[in-house]
Parts: sequence; C-alpha cells; structure tokens
Amino acid sequence: MGMVKKTSNLPGFYRLSPKERIRLIQEFADLTDEEVDRLQLTCSLNLDLANRMIENVVGIFPVPLGIAVNFLINKRDYLIPMAIEEPSVVAGASYAAKIVRAGGGFFTNSTPPIMIGQIQAVQIEDPQGARMAIYAAKEEILKKANEQDPMLVSVGGGAKDLEVKVINTQTGSMVITELHVDCRDVMGANAVNTMAEAVAPLIERITHGRVYLRIISNLATKRLARAWCVVPKKAVGGEEVVDGIIDAHAFAAADPYRAATHNKGILNGIIGVVIATCNDHRAVEAGAHAYAVQDGVYGSLSTWEKNENGDLVGAIELPMAVGIVGGATRVHPVAKIALKILGVNTATELSEVLAAVGLAQNLAALRALAHEGIQKGHMSLHARNIAISAGATGELVDRIVERMVEKRKIRLDHAKELVEEYKAKRKL
Ligand code: MEV
Repeated sequence: MGMVKKTSNLPGFYRLSPKERIRLIQEFADLTDEEVDRLQLTCSLNLDLANRMIENVVGIFPVPLGIAVNFLINKRDYLIPMAIEEPSVVAGASYAAKIVRAGGGFFTNSTPPIMIGQIQAVQIEDPQGARMAIYAAKEEILKKANEQDPMLVSVGGGAKDLEVKVINTQTGSMVITELHVDCRDVMGANAVNTMAEAVAPLIERITHGRVYLRIISNLATKRLARAWCVVPKKAVGGEEVVDGIIDAHAFAAADPYRAATHNKGILNGIIGVVIATCNDHRAVEAGAHAYAVQDGVYGSLSTWEKNENGDLVGAIELPMAVGIVGGATRVHPVAKIALKILGVNTATELSEVLAAVGLAQNLAALRALAHEGIQKGHMSLHARNIAISAGATGELVDRIVERMVEKRKIRLDHAKELVEEYKAKRKL
C-alpha cells in the first residue's frame, strides 16, 4: 500500500467542531488517544507541574490553542498550532498560507543556531591591549566554555568562536567578550549563561579587570531565520491589492510608528507558535524588535515587492532563538503535543517555520488593510467575545452576534439586553 500524502490543505476546517478538528489533527500528526484526550482537558497542565515550573504558583492560566492550516513550506505540509487570545490571527494565517500555496508555498533557510553570550569587563587600564590578550587566549577560553556542556558538544554544538569589542560608555571603556555558542536544538539561555559565568575568572585574569555581567544577548544576529514567497497577483486579489500591499510595506519602512504595528502583526503569528511550543516569547520579541533597528532607525522586518509578472514577492529575516528540547518545551504536556503536530525535527526547522508563519501573518494583515480594511473580519469575532461576556452560551452566541453585527451595535450593554430578551422568550 502506498503512503498517503498528508496535506495541511483542509478546506472547511474552520466550520468543524473542535472535536472534529482534533480528529483530523490526530490523523495528520499520528497523535495517540491519550494526547487527543489531553488536548480536550479543561486544564491540561496540573497544579503540581505548574508549581515546579515557576515560583509562588496559585493557579493556571489557559489560552485557546488553534491550528492554522494550508501551510506549505519547502514543499512540505505543516499544520501550525497557535496559542493566542486574539481573534483573527489563526484565520488570517490560514488564509494567507492558502494564497501563498497557490504560488508554490514558502521557502526558507537559516544560519546555524548560534547564540551570543556577553561578558562585561570593566576597570581596565589598556582596553585595546586587553582585547588582543583575550583573542590570544581564545582556545583556552573556548575550552573552558565547552567543558561546561559536554552534552551539547557531543551533538555538534558548543562554543565555536569569540569576538571582543571595546565600547565607550557613560562610566568609561568596557571590554566586551562575546562567546558564539552553537546551541543545536536548545534555545540556549542556560547553556550560554553557564559558559559565560565559567569563563569570567579567565577574562579577569587576562584583562586584569573586573567582570560583572555574564549573560546571553537576545539580539541573536547569528541565529537568523528567513522565509520568502511569491504569490500570484490573481490569488492576492489583483494588481491593485498587490500595489496596496507594496505601499503598506513602504509606509512601514519609512515610518517607525507604522513599523511597530507592522512588526506586531508579524509577531502575532510567530508568538502564537512560540507560546504553543512553550518557548521564551520575550526573547523572540526582544530579538525581533532590536533587529528591526537596522541603520539606527526602527523599520520593517519584512519586505514586499513585485516581480516582472506583477506577482507579489514577500521576504522576512529575523533572529529566532527557539528550542525543541530543554526549557519548558518538553515539560509542558500541550507543548509536547504542539511540537508533534508541527513535526519539526530540529530547532532550526522550527525557526524557519516561525519565519514563514510571521510572513503569512504579515501578508494577511496587509492584504486586509490594503483591501477591505481590518474591521470587517474583526467585527464578528469581537462581537463573539462581547456576546460571551454578556452571558450568552451555545447557539445563543451566534444569534446575538448576528443581531449585533446586523445593527452595527457591538456593545456589552446591547448584548446584555439581547441575552435578557432571549431568556425572557424562552420562559414564555
Ligand atoms: C493587529 O493585532 C495586527 C495589525 O495591526 C497588524 C498590522 O497593522 O499590520 C492588523
């Protein structure tokens, strides 16, 4: 029997019930019945486990987990789990992935997973001389760093190189040593920080200075993920929409106020997946925003152009410090399932998927903004939240949403009136 090719192209997925969707995901990702049950638990993280993850635990804070469909990345189908509270993000990513699919999907690449660890040395008489002395002791420093993590070294990772810079600060010159650590499949904060702390006495000995900070940098410029796509102009909605998207990008590229929102849209998608896989979303966001300040001015993380056929060409490049082992990714029961659904084999593959998701999310937002405006899609989802806040449940939610959207009166007081009205009718 030939293998059936698994596809993420699932038309009508959004119309199914959560249970029906889970059944499809189970088939796609070979989830066990136990994993399926776990996804459906009201609270899939138990308090004991939560209590071991952070301090002073008093409860658990659940967020919806959705699946973005249609993703074709490097000719392989992916289903994308997203943990996010904001409506429209999962739908937007799925829609954008569908139109990108029409042009052959996303293509990606990335640098090796190298993180930077900084060691700050101060009170040095001859900072340039100290810089050279550190370079001269490079092998000894890297050896000391690698002794801290034989496991990482055994899988091909570890401290590979270092760079030293002298910076002038308010409090005088500082000699900053930067360890370049290949983190393979871990995010790397623990590995890098341990190494930075371990080599600090060596740096003090070499520089005759005083070491204070020894910590990873979240501006992970040596761990970049890239994605690009070509979307046929017809699939985007025609020439005018293509031009609108290109103008939207030009706006972001020229104006930091717009760029912040443009990049926020990109991160809407990325962070949903980062949270679903229990990675450190603050690290990813810090890296993304800092990377957006190239040439000293905050700009867009993506670019949108058109090719000779008038088709839309999108590209994105950003730091992506994520792991698939270590940290909470293999502790959190739902993160483990999310990784299984993604089916990624390495942290690098995850980083590339994230870049593609960011580009998709950006396309969805720009297309909506340049075309019908963002509010149309947002309104009924917003109305759903209002209806639920007003106490509607089950079918009543849909009815109240319909009425509010129809009257363009999407307010909590109105939703409450409608709920009362329906309840009164039911009693009759
Ligand atoms: C909303 O969460 C995200 C957008 O504002 C992004 C954008 O403006 O590009 C729609």
